[in-house]
Amino acid sequence: MPNLLQIDSSPLGGDSFSRQLTAEYVQRWQQRHPNGKVVKRDLATTKLAPVSAEWIGAVYTPEANLSPGQRELLATSNDLIAELQAADEYVFGVPMHNFSIPSVLKLWIDQIVRIGQTFAYANGAPIGLLVNKKATFLVASGGVYDEGTPMAALNFVEPYLRAVFGFLGVTDTRFIHAGGTAKRLYGVEREIILEPALASIRAQFQAA
Ligand SMILES: Cc1cc2nc3c(=O)[nH]c(=O)nc-3n(C[C@H](O)[C@H](O)[C@H](O)COP(=O)(O)O)c2cc1C
Repeated sequence: MPNLLQIDSSPLGGDSFSRQLTAEYVQRWQQRHPNGKVVKRDLATTKLAPVSAEWIGAVYTPEANLSPGQRELLATSNDLIAELQAADEYVFGVPMHNFSIPSVLKLWIDQIVRIGQTFAYANGAPIGLLVNKKATFLVASGGVYDEGTPMAALNFVEPYLRAVFGFLGVTDTRFIHAGGTAKRLYGVEREIILEPALASIRAQFQAA
């Protein structure tokens, strides 16, 4: 049974553009996989602490030597990694915040990038342990950062996510950008702003 992990990170709930895109993606995915399972991870409501010295100490303690307190510290990270391992496919809703990813998504990344769990070293070189996964990133931004535009160099969302997920072994990735959501402030309809991104999502399912 195919398993899709949906990860949203916008704080804006029903007003969020990226959440509207993940909802569209999930709806299409469910049509394609009527028996599939969708697991939702909402980072706006998942309370994640920044990594601490104690947490880092636990990460580098061999499993057999972990104290009960250390096990407790790693429990959330273990649960989040288990969600990634169980899924075949991931879809992320990502609002651009200050040219990068929202802080809640960074807190999540700090929990799931773990030596021996999601990456390892073989002969001194890193290898990703999340293999045979596919990821789609639906990115909403107030401005437009398309390739060839003056703003493109300020888009740190896509290069960063490509780097982190590539490091973890997730190289089958797609990025769909909904740029220009700030046009909503000038009266442009949401659906008009989102149409190119919605069309790209539909095309993914028509093509596959
Ligand atoms: C804290 C914050 C920082 C933002 N930084 C940027 C930015 O650097 N560049 C940009 O184009 N838009 C920026 N925006 C606008 C958002 O990218 C835009 O509203 C987008 O639609 C957010 O996605 P969402 O609607 O799913 O929350 C920012 C918005 C917020 C709330």
